[in-house]
Amino acid sequence: MNVAPIGVFDSGVGGLSVIRAIAELMPEESLLYVADTAHCPYGARPIDYLTERALCITAYLQAQGAKAIVVACNTATVATVATLRERFSLPIIGIEPAIRPAAANTRSGVIGVLATAATLGSAHLAALIERHTDYHEVLTSACPGWVEAVEAGDLESAATQALVQAHVQPLLDAGADTLVLGCTHFPFLRPLIEAVCGPDVHILETGMPVARQLQRQLLSRHLLAHAHSPQYRFLSTANPAAQSDFVRHFWPGVGELGYLSI
Ligand code: DGL
Repeated sequence: MNVAPIGVFDSGVGGLSVIRAIAELMPEESLLYVADTAHCPYGARPIDYLTERALCITAYLQAQGAKAIVVACNTATVATVATLRERFSLPIIGIEPAIRPAAANTRSGVIGVLATAATLGSAHLAALIERHTDYHEVLTSACPGWVEAVEAGDLESAATQALVQAHVQPLLDAGADTLVLGCTHFPFLRPLIEAVCGPDVHILETGMPVARQLQRQLLSRHLLAHAHSPQYRFLSTANPAAQSDFVRHFWPGVGELGYLSI
């Protein structure tokens, strides 16, 4: 059982920012990743749609023998993680914007949250902000076009730079000194975000905290793999060949890239 894979999914390649952290923290674990690219982006989808996709993918991963599920998508987490935990008994680890660390870190009291429209409009995020911020001002940006740029592997062009500048600069102008990357696609744009922000702005992403939470859950259930050579598989609900360069670049050691019809 311990050598069973950890199932990880996202709307597309964004969750590889979480895979990267899991593989770094737990190099002995096998990972089975589902990119739901045929249904990407998730950010403008209604909750029912996201719930149906999350249930379908989680059932698939469970049937493949996954010992735990990581919802490597903020949008899917805020919309569906409670339902997934009701329906499945295996550990389900979600990801949510790092509001609490941002509140602890900011000196200006102004926090910028970058996430999809669905995440920004969710009751889950509203509750996080209510719980963890006090005197803080929380600004948000839905960053239209960012997910699509990452999915296209367009991480450096002048057009992507302009897109990043357009959504980061107004947050800086309003006094934000801490930016929360509340979408797993956005760490891939971090070099461009840093170029706009300069060194004094703190940028928070959540791949490693999620990997640590996963490790704690596996440890407490005696599910950690030991001395095992891991298998890394990437499956996509669209054409995986189109994602091959990106996946192989950001997930060294990945083996099979396959098509998944679910
Ligand atoms: N990567 C996802 C997230 O963390 C969703 C991106 C999308 O498909 O809109 O929210």
